Amino acid sequence: MPDSSTYVLAGVDAGKEWERLDTMHNAVDNYLGHKLTPAPSLGHPRKILELGAGSGAWAIQAAKQFPDAEVIAVDISPLPPRPTPVNMKSLQADVAQALPFEPESFDIVHIRYALIHLPHGTAHIPKLGQLVAPGGLLLIDDISLPIITGDAPAVRESFETLAVYMRSKHQDPRIADTLEAKLRESGLFSDVDAFKVSLPLNTPIADPAAQRLSRAFKDSITNVFVGELPAEVRATGFTEELQKAYRDEVDVKEWDGIVEAMWTWSRKL
Ligand SMILES: C[S@@+](CC[C@H](N)C(=O)[O-])C[C@H]1O[C@@H](n2cnc3c(N)ncnc32)[C@H](O)[C@@H]1O
Repeated sequence: MPDSSTYVLAGVDAGKEWERLDTMHNAVDNYLGHKLTPAPSLGHPRKILELGAGSGAWAIQAAKQFPDAEVIAVDISPLPPRPTPVNMKSLQADVAQALPFEPESFDIVHIRYALIHLPHGTAHIPKLGQLVAPGGLLLIDDISLPIITGDAPAVRESFETLAVYMRSKHQDPRIADTLEAKLRESGLFSDVDAFKVSLPLNTPIADPAAQRLSRAFKDSITNVFVGELPAEVRATGFTEELQKAYRDEVDVKEWDGIVEAMWTWSRKL
């Protein structure tokens, strides 16, 4: 399938990207105490859909936690060739298009850090909600990228260049700010709950767990900013000079910016 993704890292070295996503998954997993979501209970799901699955780490964990459930992991790019539980399968498909599933056919639909990369991200909420069976859960985990303050021009320019690129693709780099309201406005859910944590990227945090998660986000974003980038992203201003200047500043200069990390769980009417 041609990769028509507007994902900022579409087409880069897949192995390195899967490694970056696995590392971030492990950090979130530790933060959540090895739970798939902060939602109080997932019940006994029989069918679970994971969208924008990346390395498949969340889907693998879900399949292990619920061995009697069928787990389907969807991404626009192939998942890595790795051993997966027998109750998990993968499918290459574009979440921005119609998906080949019956309405109301999943007990859980989960999408993490992927809605932010879809054009008009929150406009997809009704389509995702329609895939959830009555009484089932839509789990959306996403972030708002930081606005940078302080004395680090290359750090600020890198985040601003990413935001400009994303907005040119109709993606919302601050999607977590409106997620909860958009879920409520959809009218599809009896309850919409959310847990949000604000993570300064470059100032020590008193809570050690939040500090570790913040460090993981900082490292993950730094890997993107200093690594291989598609030509189209470079053309928006992500030059090699900017990448070098970012590398020189990121752990040395005084700057900050808050990542808003959000987990939502919405019960289908
Ligand atoms: C930041 S990664 C997150 C991966 C995974 N959800 C996780 O949390 O580790 C975003 C993922 O969304 C996928 N993606 C982007 N646009 C997509 C689309 N239109 N349809 C399906 N997947 C898409 C990318 O290929 C990538 O694997």
